[in-house]
Amino acid sequence: MDSGTVDRQCSYGRSSWTFACPSSDAGWRLGLMGMDIVAERLEPWLDEAAKSLEEQPIQLLRRGNTGTTRAADLGYLPLGVGFLVSFTKLDHVMQVLRSRTERKALPPAVMWFFAAEEPSVDTYTTWARNIRHHYAETKQYIPQIWIQVGGSAVAALELAQSDAKPDALVVQGSDAGGHGMERGASIVGLIPETKSLFDRAYSGDRRPHLLASGGIVNAEGAAAALCLGAEGVIMGTRFLASPETIVPHPEYRERVLAAKDGAQSTIRAKVFDELKGPNIWPAAYDGRALVSKNWRDMHEGGVPIETIRESVAKAAKDADGGYGIGSDRAVVWCGTGVGLVNEMKKAGDVVVEVREGVSTLLGTLRTNVDSVHAS
Ligand SMILES: Cc1cc2nc3c(=O)[nH]c(=O)nc-3n(C[C@H](O)[C@H](O)[C@H](O)COP(=O)(O)O)c2cc1C
Repeated sequence: MDSGTVDRQCSYGRSSWTFACPSSDAGWRLGLMGMDIVAERLEPWLDEAAKSLEEQPIQLLRRGNTGTTRAADLGYLPLGVGFLVSFTKLDHVMQVLRSRTERKALPPAVMWFFAAEEPSVDTYTTWARNIRHHYAETKQYIPQIWIQVGGSAVAALELAQSDAKPDALVVQGSDAGGHGMERGASIVGLIPETKSLFDRAYSGDRRPHLLASGGIVNAEGAAAALCLGAEGVIMGTRFLASPETIVPHPEYRERVLAAKDGAQSTIRAKVFDELKGPNIWPAAYDGRALVSKNWRDMHEGGVPIETIRESVAKAAKDADGGYGIGSDRAVVWCGTGVGLVNEMKKAGDVVVEVREGVSTLLGTLRTNVDSVHAS
């Protein structure tokens, strides 16, 4: 892959180590840092995260234990690293992990995989095997493997039972911001069907945790996902309005904060990946972003992609980088929940607010249901 191709794909909002550290503790919340497609920041970001975590006590919020600990005592960094496995070279990742082990640096708690070409099982299995083998040999903590799968309960079960042996399966619904499966459904259908397949396939034996992603931006969404059968939730779009997340231009954030009516203001399309050259994503994927002049040009105006690309290149030279509402040419990836993302909030505060909100909501729901039964 040439470096031009790489540059084209890097204008993606992304969580860095500055996001992952304050979002995590050693219990119920985990911050993930997403690697770009070449994962060139893997080593520096992990080193920065380790340095930051060494200096601060980590809250233990598991099974009623509310004390603190240190990363060194845990044996891992309480954060996850996400890889887009179609693009990132596994050899490069392994080289970085080996170099860190030689320096006695701590492994991350979780490795997250996404975006494999279909059929995906072999690719995910190769990644999982290599990473687990390395840490088993070096007798370090073996990171959990989380795989994000979209659009199919059957595909989720196939991956769950594969040799990739994921510790968690993240089932991504079509409301999700950024890339996902072109064919799919919301988590309302996907999660219960996946859970029902898991219930039938596993009889008491260890099964991967089921996590929901796509459209969840607040406590209501998270509580709903848990009621649907998920054991945890993933949020992406909500954190675009957190100061720790890197966005390619301040106007990106402004557009997210200003967006209303996410079901109408966002759309899934492939055109978002064709604006700077041919689409390099595997065929089964598209992405959800704010509806833009580019989308309208292509889907309503029949404008040829070459002409759209010229407009995009011209707008990129403007002061707003093409992200401003007037220009509207750069891609603002976000999910349908964007209409509810109206204020900036620190990532750690978002997670605490959602968790506490879920607890209150489920308590209220129970009281309401009980009172209906009693009457
Ligand atoms: C700006 C943005 C960037 C994303 N980047 C990645 C990525 O690099 N790797 C990945 O696995 N998923 C990525 N995702 C998708 C998330 O993993 C997740 O599926 C999605 O954010 C969940 O839906 P939500 O945005 O409605 O919360 C991204 C999503 C957004 C909005």
